[in-house]
Amino acid sequence: MTRARGRAPTTQGLSQDGRLRRAAGGDIEALVEVCRQSFPRSLRWQGTPRGARQWWQAVLASPAAETWVFESSGAVWGFCVLVIDPDTWLREAGRRQVPLLLGLWSLASCPAVVAAKIWGRLAAAVVRRTCAVPPDAADRPDPKTWVELIAVHPVRRGGGVARQLLEACEARTRDLGGAAIGLSVELGNEQALRLYERAGYVGMAPAGARRVYVKALP
Ligand SMILES: CC(C)(COP(=O)(O)OP(=O)(O)OC[C@H]1O[C@@H](n2cnc3c(N)ncnc32)[C@H](O)[C@@H]1OP(=O)(O)O)[C@@H](O)C(=O)NCCC(=O)NCCS
Repeated sequence: MTRARGRAPTTQGLSQDGRLRRAAGGDIEALVEVCRQSFPRSLRWQGTPRGARQWWQAVLASPAAETWVFESSGAVWGFCVLVIDPDTWLREAGRRQVPLLLGLWSLASCPAVVAAKIWGRLAAAVVRRTCAVPPDAADRPDPKTWVELIAVHPVRRGGGVARQLLEACEARTRDLGGAAIGLSVELGNEQALRLYERAGYVGMAPAGARRVYVKALP
C-alpha cells in the first residue's frame, strides 16, 4: 500500500484486480492527476496544480467527507468523495475555493478550457429540454449523504471501478443510517449518466446545467 502513496498511475504492469481504501495525504499527487485526466473542461483541474492540491488538502482534512480510492498495481486509478455531513461541508466551502490570484492565473493560462466550458454549458441547456423526470421522483427520500466527485483514470475505465466506488459509498451511507444517497451530474455527461442510471439512481428535475440523482437504499 505504501508503494502507492503520491504516485501518479502509469500504464505498465496493470492487474485487473485492486482494492478500495480511504485516501491519505500522500495520495494527493495521484488524485490531482486522475482529476486532470478526467475533467478537461474544469479550470480547477486544468489550471495551476497548486490550486488543485489545495482543494484536495482541504477535502482530506475535512471531517465532513470521506475520500475512497481504488488502488491497483501500486497506483491510484480512481476515487470518490462522499459527503457525510452536509452542513459542515457547506460551511467549509471557503476552504476549498481557489484563491483569487491563482484563479485569475488559471483563467488567463487556459483559454481553451474556458471556451470548452462555455460550449459545454450551451450543449447542456439543449439537453435539459429533453430530460424526462420519472413520476415517482418526488417520493424519493431526501439524501443525507452525497457523492461530491467521482472519477476513474481513462486507462482503467469500463472495468467496473466506478461501480465499485459507488457501491462503497452506498454501503457507508447504510452504515451511517442513511436511507438514500444523492449526487449531481452535468447534463450531457453521458458516461456518468449511464453509470448512475444502471446503478439504480433516479434523476430529479434538472437544476441549471446539472441534474440531481437519488438512490433509495433498502
Ligand atoms: C463516469 C466514470 C466515473 C465511469 O467510470 P468507469 O470505471 O468507466 O465506470 P464502470 O466501469 O464502473 O461502468 C462503466 C461501464 O463499464 C461496464 N463494466 C462494468 N464492469 C465491467 C467489466 N468487468 N468489464 C467491462 N465492462 C464493465 C459497466 O457496465 C458500464 O457499462 P456501460 O458503458 O455499458 O454502461 C468515468 O467515465 C470518468 O471518470 N469520467 C470522467 C469524470 C466524470 O465525469 N465523473 C462524473 C462526474 S458526475
